[in-house]
Amino acid sequence: MTHQPMRVAVIGTGYVGLGTAALLAHIGHDVVGIDIDPDKIAALQSGQVPIHEPGLDDLLASVAHRLTWTTAYDAVSAADVVFICVGTPPGPDGSPDLQYVASAAANLAPHLNGHMQVIVNKSTVPIGTGDYVQRLLEEHAPGYDHGRHQVVSNPEFLREGTALADSLYPDRIVLGGAEGAVAKMTALYAPLIEQTFTAPATAPRPDGYTRPAVVRTTLQSAEMIKYAANAFLALKISFANEIAGLCERVGADIEEVATGIGLDQRIGHRFLQAGLGWGGSCFGKDTQGLISAGQEHNYPMPILEAAIEVNYRQRRVIIDKLLRQLKTLKGKKVGILGMAFKPDTDDLRDAPAHDLIQRLTQLGARVTAHDPIAMPRAAREWAHLTYQEAAQVEDVFDRADAVIVATEWTAYRLLDWTAMSGRMRAPVIIDARNIIRTPLDAELEQVGRSTVKGQVLP
Ligand code: UGA
Repeated sequence: MTHQPMRVAVIGTGYVGLGTAALLAHIGHDVVGIDIDPDKIAALQSGQVPIHEPGLDDLLASVAHRLTWTTAYDAVSAADVVFICVGTPPGPDGSPDLQYVASAAANLAPHLNGHMQVIVNKSTVPIGTGDYVQRLLEEHAPGYDHGRHQVVSNPEFLREGTALADSLYPDRIVLGGAEGAVAKMTALYAPLIEQTFTAPATAPRPDGYTRPAVVRTTLQSAEMIKYAANAFLALKISFANEIAGLCERVGADIEEVATGIGLDQRIGHRFLQAGLGWGGSCFGKDTQGLISAGQEHNYPMPILEAAIEVNYRQRRVIIDKLLRQLKTLKGKKVGILGMAFKPDTDDLRDAPAHDLIQRLTQLGARVTAHDPIAMPRAAREWAHLTYQEAAQVEDVFDRADAVIVATEWTAYRLLDWTAMSGRMRAPVIIDARNIIRTPLDAELEQVGRSTVKGQVLP
């Protein structure tokens, strides 16, 4: 089947907008990216990508002939499909702030014209936002026509750090809305659904991957799928963390337990990694978003509330562990390895390292922190925190009383931990991401064995 290239406008050039623009251009469409921030647009026009995402700059460069960047909304008039990919940061009460979605809808509306145009919500938005956007369009578009202008919810499931592979080889594509608009979206995504595009060198097609499932739903169900998926993943992590705490008390090993339960296909092994818990811009906000929706409907959601409580308890647990080891933190040098909320990103939003640094300095510790890429960003965004930047990873260890692994960067996994601990005043290392392998572990892994509390098992 030959695919018809379409004209697409993408509003918002954050993670979701840039990922969407790159994907759609790569599968053959002509894309215009719109952002109200002239600095971001100027950077993109000169080939600079304003976020750190592995492979994204190469992919955008390879499709530059099908991409334009502008601050002018009138580019919407020629578009067959208009994606809203703006931020929905948490408001003061934790529920998502829709001001950017509202202004994107109001700004694009006057440029809708006579041909069939689909307006797509890709930002993570509360249930009911699709209808709200539709009302805004009716209000602000003089010639709004229900037959020709329809709103679709098409939630995004990509993770920062693996955004390209997640977008090119998704498990599913969710399309919520009226039949005609969903049919147009199916045509837009046809090369993705049929996997007829050439896999980019930086994101090869995973072994065994065939094609995504297409889930066609109502607007409200699609919006709910996004929130429920993130809340479930957050729940899985908090479950693993709750079990981990009990494991420590009864002498079990959470990694072995996670392997043992994850092999049950009904459970699955992913997102059972215990440690410092989740951070980032999504899990906390979306879980809280569902709780707020419940409150609006007088419907308590105790499971989700517990997931949040367990998550933030993990940050306190790590400090308590340190206090048990060192008795006091006054004047002690504590090193933090990793500042970004997870590896392969410089995103610092809701990063556990932030709360650790804040608490450690409150308790009188001198903190030295390192991150392979997030340090310049931290210097800007964490200016309110007191810590020393480590120019080299070794500086974190030199004469330190304790070191905490806060983010599981591969570079940290590969450290010579014996040599590093030799640089410390006392080798107190809190591996809050479970990454350290002793030489014995490494030897045993090579022959397919593992250790349990010093015992060697076949
Ligand atoms: C998450 C979802 O995984 C995506 O599917 C979704 O599209 C995205 O939110 C979004 O809504 O935009 P992301 O926040 O980029 O993606 O990162 P994840 O890889 O999911 O990690 C989130 C946090 O959970 C990280 O802090 C990570 O360290 C932590 N985590 C993850 C664990 O503590 N344990 C695990 O087993 C897995």
